[in-house]
Amino acid sequence: MQPIHTRLDDNDAQDDEVLLDVKDVKTHFFTDEGVVKAVDGVNLSLKRGQTLCVVGESGCGKSVTARSILRIVPPPGEIVSGAINFRQRDGGTIDLATLNPKGREIRRIRGGEISMIFQEPMSSLSPVHTIGSQIIEAIQLHLPVSKGEARKQAVSMLDLVGIPRPGEQLDAYSFELSGGMRQRAMIAIALACEPQLLIADEPTTALDVTTQANILDLIRDLQQASGMSVLFITHDLGVVAEIADEVVVMYLGRDVESGDVDSIFHDPKHPYTRALLQSIPRYDSRQSRKLYSIKGTVPHPFDRPSGCPFHPRCDDFIAGTCNTIDPARQLISPGHSVRCLLYADANAGEQVPVNSAGTQDMDMSN
Ligand SMILES: Nc1ncnc2c1ncn2[C@@H]1O[C@H](COP(=O)(O)OP(=O)(O)O)[C@@H](O)[C@H]1O
Ligand SMILES: [Mg+2]
Repeated sequence: MQPIHTRLDDNDAQDDEVLLDVKDVKTHFFTDEGVVKAVDGVNLSLKRGQTLCVVGESGCGKSVTARSILRIVPPPGEIVSGAINFRQRDGGTIDLATLNPKGREIRRIRGGEISMIFQEPMSSLSPVHTIGSQIIEAIQLHLPVSKGEARKQAVSMLDLVGIPRPGEQLDAYSFELSGGMRQRAMIAIALACEPQLLIADEPTTALDVTTQANILDLIRDLQQASGMSVLFITHDLGVVAEIADEVVVMYLGRDVESGDVDSIFHDPKHPYTRALLQSIPRYDSRQSRKLYSIKGTVPHPFDRPSGCPFHPRCDDFIAGTCNTIDPARQLISPGHSVRCLLYADANAGEQVPVNSAGTQDMDMSN
């Protein structure tokens, strides 16, 4: 079978290159009831070939962040500020936040350079077209190949994602496939254009554990073969431990902590990250201990707490401070930042440089 991605040669020089740099993005929904600040200042940076996991409880703005990058936020949602710098294949950097969401430019990037897979494959697969015709269309949209050639590539794709008898399955409709096979078909379509960036929004949440493990292996294999970057959204820290290079923990529309996977798991700083980690079962724990659960629930964005948005649920709450001061991003160690007032003074000398918009300055040109 022909490998679909063979750009390893130019990866060497670009290993450290930032592919995606999201800076202080705010995406709000202007509803009749009021403004929902679904994403309210998120920062993340993803290097070529790496996997960045975005983690947080349901409702914290993970999907809206992903949709903001692809510019598929449904109305009345709008990106109100921030930048989404993306390094294109031709080497130029483009701020996706400035593009017309219906324009040619973003449509070329969507599917051509960035693909997305969703939690529920039925929502993105067409019920009236065969799996094969959808892959062939994706291939022909971005590669100048004949229909026959595209069909051959489509068979390879289905084979690559582990669909048995790919030649026959090409003519199947999505409703004829099992959940796991449907997910694989969606991945095949997403990868057909050889994206530089794959955004996976809880792609395995609805699947059984065996299928989930297979899909994660599959994404990893494809990534190793192609040097593709993956932005993986999940609320499952077990998955994060398995696949992440870097982690961004989100709470109420913001990055509250970010760092490499070891720092996040072995040296978590934010009380929210610590609480999330304590709430997962551990296989290595000898004593059976009671699982911790974070007190309270994520407040509705209409009722955004003052000061640090996590303070009503925080075990380390400092009265008079945490409910009044909105914590800025602060560098704890190289590559590890946190928004928490517990660290406000101790590391004052190491503050993340902030620009006038209150965001960290990140250089796309490294
Ligand atoms: N179309 C919409 N209109 C109004 N509010 C929305 C819309 N989509 C999402 N939201 C709100 O934005 C917040 C973040 O949602 P989402 O990004 O889907 O969370 P997550 O993916 O982390 O579970 C939630 O409070 C949700 O209710
Ligand atoms: Mg979601």
